[in-house]
Amino acid sequence: MESTGKPNLSDAQNLDRSNDLYIKRTIHELFSLKGRVTVITGGARGIGLALAFAVAEAGSDVAILDILDEPHEHFALLQRGYGVKAKFYKTDITKYDVLKASFEAVVKDFGRIDGLITAAGICPDQPFLERSLEAVQRTFSINVFGSYFAAQLAAEQMVKQQADDNHAQGGSILMIASITAYQASKMQYLSDYCSSKGAILSLVRELGVELAEKRIRVNSISPGYMMTDMTLSISDTRPALAQVFVTEPPMRRMGDRSDLKGAAVYLLSDASGYVTGEDLLITGGMHAGRTHLK
Ligand SMILES: NC(=O)c1ccc[n+]([C@@H]2O[C@H](COP(=O)([O-])OP(=O)(O)OC[C@H]3O[C@@H](n4cnc5c(N)ncnc54)[C@H](O)[C@@H]3O)[C@@H](O)[C@H]2O)c1
Repeated sequence: MESTGKPNLSDAQNLDRSNDLYIKRTIHELFSLKGRVTVITGGARGIGLALAFAVAEAGSDVAILDILDEPHEHFALLQRGYGVKAKFYKTDITKYDVLKASFEAVVKDFGRIDGLITAAGICPDQPFLERSLEAVQRTFSINVFGSYFAAQLAAEQMVKQQADDNHAQGGSILMIASITAYQASKMQYLSDYCSSKGAILSLVRELGVELAEKRIRVNSISPGYMMTDMTLSISDTRPALAQVFVTEPPMRRMGDRSDLKGAAVYLLSDASGYVTGEDLLITGGMHAGRTHLK
């Protein structure tokens, strides 16, 4: 019967009233990624590599796409010791044809794509008045367009896949935004970086809505200062920033990449099955305020 938009008794009668699913679906099953395939851009090192370990520990196969020639040596551990398939594809995500070819190779090698993490990113630190068109375009090509088209290619594959005994319809996309999408960073000049991460937050909300009917969830995490090659090289060139990284967060330390692992598995797995268009801030409390300590 065509809906009139007005509530009536049959609406109430049509509600699915089975209410013991919460007993059947255990926390172990909800957080499991067993039998799934996760693609990670920028996973050759840094946050992306740590999240590769996270999803592998939860049972997922892993395909890493990165511009580097070789992934960090820890990638070999992932290939050996976790009982999952892990493969590296050298890929410049700013080149659409190259990105598309890597996604096609992943589907050929793994058979499907259930999850995507877009971790590839760069963080130039230079005053706004000195930024050139080419430099800003490069930031947006990697941080925004690369994430956008990786999500599109993953979603194209996800909508083709049928549900079976081991896989639900759809998939989950996790983007890496940043606290800098919300607030300027002390002693840093990040105009294009901040605005590129703001674009990711908007994209996540829009795709969360647009792809919901295709059963694809889209969320992000926004880390604060995390200890990676990116922040270490910033600290090396501007040592005063190393002090900022450990004194600004109320928790008075930089984030370790392990601080992001649980959130990533949560957002990729069925544990977050009713969460989409959301951003999770993981900042040692810095998004709430700055340290009270002197
Ligand atoms: N480290 C932090 O404190 C922090 C905080 C908030 C957000 N983030 C975000 O997390 C993500 C990962 O950062 P990270 O700290 O691990 O940095 P990282 O530099 O250690 O890793 C980034 C990875 O992206 C890859 N990459 C860069 N350009 C690429 C391209 N064109 N094609 C394919 N791969 C490319 C790099 O080779 C590298 O492996 C980034 O999006 C970053 O903006 C980092």
